[in-house]
Amino acid sequence: MYKELQDKVAIVTGAASGLGKAIALRFGKEGMKVVVNYLSKEKEAAEVVKEIQNSGGEGIAVQADVSKEEDVERLISSAHQEFGTLDVMMNNAGVQKEIPSHEMTLEDWNKVIAVNLSGTFLGSTKAIAYMLDNGIKGSIINMSSVHEIVPWPHFVHYASSKGGMKMLTQTLALEYAPHGIRVNNIGPGAINTPINAEKFSDPKTKEDVLSMIPMKEIGEPEQIASIAAFLASNEASYVTGITLFADGGMKLYPAFQAGRG
Ligand code: BGC
Repeated sequence: MYKELQDKVAIVTGAASGLGKAIALRFGKEGMKVVVNYLSKEKEAAEVVKEIQNSGGEGIAVQADVSKEEDVERLISSAHQEFGTLDVMMNNAGVQKEIPSHEMTLEDWNKVIAVNLSGTFLGSTKAIAYMLDNGIKGSIINMSSVHEIVPWPHFVHYASSKGGMKMLTQTLALEYAPHGIRVNNIGPGAINTPINAEKFSDPKTKEDVLSMIPMKEIGEPEQIASIAAFLASNEASYVTGITLFADGGMKLYPAFQAGRG
């Protein structure tokens, strides 16, 4: 727990399920005031808010499509109107869909880039504008992936969005460091979330994934939420422009583990 996070205000995008939900709940436990953003899962978002309140935090659910400029502006205004400020912007919302690249349409490509990369651009830059206007030394945290650096066949849109996020984050970190605004990525590997539920329900596919993880464990959302809390806290006050990977060693090319290659 990080005492200074008490009463700090955060927005978490895509917080009705998966990693976003785990992060919103962790922020709630830290005593933060959390804007729980959702796109369509209204009921689930209301449940997250209830859980935050039960654990001593405050929360509101706000519908917004992170790929739309006016929605992101409304999201930031709702933090201001409801809680008076914005200290932490957690750009978590993301989508993925398996499609061989030669069958991928421009529409498939644009959809993933719009949410994962443009959504993170909008969330980061609008939050930074708010922080500059209000003299806030805030923390921007973006949900990247091991696929920020590891290529991923059948997911060229997704891997490209995460690769792009590396430069987005590093550039913003450099640009706004003089204002005390920190910008960092989290880079998870394979985590037990709804996005992976189908994949992990098939024992053979799960085995395949595990063979790529040196620690031989699928990660849990709470292991990612603890990184978000760290990056939001003063313990990370000198940390900017990094991607903190949490992947059980997945990006270390496990196929080389036994000295092959
Ligand atoms: C994806 C997961 C995948 C993991 C490792 C993540 O970014 O969301 O579906 O299991 O990368 O490949």
